[in-house]
Amino acid sequence: MQVLTVLCHPRSDSFTAGVAHEFRAGLAESGHGGELADLYAEGFDPLVFPPDEPDWYQPKRFSDAVLAEQARVERHDAIAMVFPVWWWSVPAMLKGWIDRVWNRGWAYSQSQLRLEQGLLIGVAAGTAKNYDGPRGYRGAMEIQLVQGVLDYCKVRNGRLELLINSKESDAMRAELLLRARALGRDFARETVEPS
Ligand SMILES: Cc1cc2nc3c(=O)[nH]c(=O)nc-3n(C[C@H](O)[C@H](O)[C@H](O)COP(=O)(O)O)c2cc1C
Repeated sequence: MQVLTVLCHPRSDSFTAGVAHEFRAGLAESGHGGELADLYAEGFDPLVFPPDEPDWYQPKRFSDAVLAEQARVERHDAIAMVFPVWWWSVPAMLKGWIDRVWNRGWAYSQSQLRLEQGLLIGVAAGTAKNYDGPRGYRGAMEIQLVQGVLDYCKVRNGRLELLINSKESDAMRAELLLRARALGRDFARETVEPS
């Protein structure tokens, strides 16, 4: 399977970038290929200007930058996004990539994405108490990102994996890197249609 890994972090030596590296190593171990889209390193502009605003009444040709991003997604069978959790969500850079690229008529509405898998890997300093306790940030993120973006665009097998406690210790970070590698190795799943 060809898997596009979208990495969002301002630093190439970040722990999040390390997670993406291990994830891709795991993919390769299982015979998967695919490109890396490193949004910060590539200087992607996450702001939506009029050329990339959806036209609600007729089909529209988007900017060349967006068409190139859409073509890159189309070259792949599946997508993974690796990002640090910022304010219980994705960073503005990744949100802007979705805003601009996953546009009307391509990702939703008259058209939909033909992606077999969609995996979101959020790297988080927060704890199980934050994510699975009364505030329920894991559920909030799943509703917003898995249901609200992946399922909405008919990506199959959409899911969110949170690598929590990322600032706890070196031992914890080593464990999280092993989990990232396993996520790559076990990437392909039996197809589940979005609801
Ligand atoms: C602007 C900002 C907002 C953050 N918000 C959260 C948050 O809401 N929940 C959380 O668990 N961690 C949060 N963090 C911590 C990051 O998730 C943490 O830095 C993450 O483990 C990424 O690690 P890295 O930057 O070393 O790769 C935030 C960090 C920043 C810089």
